Amino acid sequence: MSHEFSLTSIPDLNGRYDIYGAIHKGLRKAGCDLLGRLATADFHNAEEAVFLIGDLRNYLMLAASHVSHEDDHIHVALAAKGVSTVTLDEQHDDHRTAFRELEELIVAWEKAWPLHKAACGRKLYLAFAAYIADDFAHMHEEETVTGPLLWRNFTDNEILGIEMDIIASLPPEKSMAFMRIMIPAINPAERAALLGAMKKDAPPEIFQAVIDFAVRPGLSAIDFAQLADALKLVA
Ligand SMILES: [Fe+2]
Repeated sequence: MSHEFSLTSIPDLNGRYDIYGAIHKGLRKAGCDLLGRLATADFHNAEEAVFLIGDLRNYLMLAASHVSHEDDHIHVALAAKGVSTVTLDEQHDDHRTAFRELEELIVAWEKAWPLHKAACGRKLYLAFAAYIADDFAHMHEEETVTGPLLWRNFTDNEILGIEMDIIASLPPEKSMAFMRIMIPAINPAERAALLGAMKKDAPPEIFQAVIDFAVRPGLSAIDFAQLADALKLVA
């Protein structure tokens, strides 16, 4: 996949380059959707719950990957400017502990006898709720404290460069998986900006694959029609 397009960033309301905005919206929405499904799941029904567990594992994989991208690219860049990221690093370590504990709870549900599956499912639901509560507070700090620190220490082009390094490190299937959670979570103008940049810069077959596999399945017919109109897509 070409990496010469913006995957996650869109200008924020101040006109500065916002490295966190789209991906954090994606993680918040996907996390809330999963929490709702965990709340209503029939954990006795293994056949039904197995799809939910698959989606949960996919979400946790993306969340873990996102945390390492921030460590390896954003925190390293801030440290090079002498800006401390100790608090964020500790929060990321707490996230990694939560990922391990959530996986243990998933395995416990998988191995549980039928009589115990509902209780294991409830434990998983509570642990996931606590995890996303922590993550929401953490992402809030990144967007209200770390984002302005980035703007103070880097030009928009330098922030874009950090993002391009992150994108270049992603295998295509992971880029697609991030797009699948981001596109339904951002507003129409943000979708048009993000995908408009991609339409301009990416090879047409890559852009079409993103539309077919990461964009259209996650949008309502009305939202997709509005986007197609903005991007002047040929039907
Ligand atoms: Fe983070």
